[in-house]
Amino acid sequence: MGKLLYIQASPRIQRSHSIAVADAFVGSYGQEHADDEIVTLNLFEASLPNFDGLAVQAKYTILHGQAHSQEELQVWKNVEQVIEQFTSADKYVLAVPMWNFGIPYRLKQYIDILIQPGHTFSYSPDKGYEGLVVGKPLLAVYARGGEYPAGSEAEAFDLQTRYVELAFGFMGFKDIRSVIVEPTLQGGPELAKRRVAEAIDRAREMAINF
Ligand SMILES: Cc1cc2nc3c(=O)[nH]c(=O)nc-3n(C[C@H](O)[C@H](O)[C@H](O)COP(=O)(O)O)c2cc1C
Repeated sequence: MGKLLYIQASPRIQRSHSIAVADAFVGSYGQEHADDEIVTLNLFEASLPNFDGLAVQAKYTILHGQAHSQEELQVWKNVEQVIEQFTSADKYVLAVPMWNFGIPYRLKQYIDILIQPGHTFSYSPDKGYEGLVVGKPLLAVYARGGEYPAGSEAEAFDLQTRYVELAFGFMGFKDIRSVIVEPTLQGGPELAKRRVAEAIDRAREMAINF
């Protein structure tokens, strides 16, 4: 029995295009893998610790090879709980809207919590940086209001897919698959509906071999 962590980075739940497609994927996956546990985490509903001054200080304490103060230990416990939920999964699905060419701030906050030395990456002078979350697949479903096709001028504005691939790649992910739903706004509701339906078909197919 495996565990699939389904991370939703849109607050729009019922209206979200990325969640509609990711839901279809997870639904098909669940039918194919009836024994697996599926845990859904909506980042706008979950209570995530702030990655503020004290948390940053606790991170630097580790980087400097020192022991945490009582105050740092407290905040670090909350950070480690989020990481533990993440690293205990075997497979990942991520529903991500494009916000201002990048990702929603709650996903950035989540990534800032996850990327910690000794948990999701290591560093040594010989080997440099190494990701520690290895051998696990991730499907990212990206939604965006406009279109950013490969080879177009607009492609350069797409920091959404690039950042997700870079951040999760840094944590060790090599098997990152993707489905893109676009345009969800620019071409009007009819085109959006068609693109969502196409993406759902693709997502359901991809669930079979995930
Ligand atoms: C705060 C905000 C910023 C956005 N910025 C962009 C953007 O830079 N480029 C774009 O194509 N669409 C942008 N959009 C539109 C969303 O990408 C689009 O509505 C997408 O479908 C959202 O994903 P969701 O339906 O899963 O919530 C933005 C939407 C919001 C709410």
